[in-house]
Amino acid sequence: MRIVVMVSGSGTNLQAVLDAVRDGRIDVEIAAVGADKPCRGLERAQAAGIPTFLVRPGEHPDRESWNRALQEAVAAHAPDRVLFAGFMRIVDAGFVAAFEGRIVNTHPSLLPSFPGAHAVRDALAHGVRITGVTVHEVVADVDAGPILAQAAVPVEDGDDERTLHERIKTAERELLVATLGALARAPHPAR
Ligand code: GRF
Repeated sequence: MRIVVMVSGSGTNLQAVLDAVRDGRIDVEIAAVGADKPCRGLERAQAAGIPTFLVRPGEHPDRESWNRALQEAVAAHAPDRVLFAGFMRIVDAGFVAAFEGRIVNTHPSLLPSFPGAHAVRDALAHGVRITGVTVHEVVADVDAGPILAQAAVPVEDGDDERTLHERIKTAERELLVATLGALARAPHPAR
């Protein structure tokens, strides 16, 4: 299964996938890694010898233009699936339609609880004792697509956003790699 991975941040999820591919644990080829800004995730891809691309919103006149440029940059690598691994941008319906049923996102909560950019903070503020991670298909509505896999993570006394997010990310990396491995073994949706 050929994938393009999109990142915005530290890229630890990407690193888990890079390691699993390198060790032959999943039947995945990372065709390219893209980002919306320079970030550690892009550096990790470069260090692994994977082609990278950058499509910055600030270099486009509007959201529509940025979405089309991103779509073209991803499509140029002809992926079977597109993975959003800590990609902190919302793509439009045209982007989703271009890769219909083939975009996978990882989100640090048990969806449908706590969608959005502050899932860990929101879960803490709500006082839940169990949160977790969701790997799901991307649809036009944010954090709303069909759920592919979930793992529960306990909230510990004294947790702050950072400690809880780190515990979630440990579970997230494992779940993401396992889910990608399962997707790679299943028939791929038509390109
Ligand atoms: C992950 O928890 C992801 O779900 C969230 O941001 C984090 C990204 O971490 N949206 P990393 O860049 O993979 O280290």
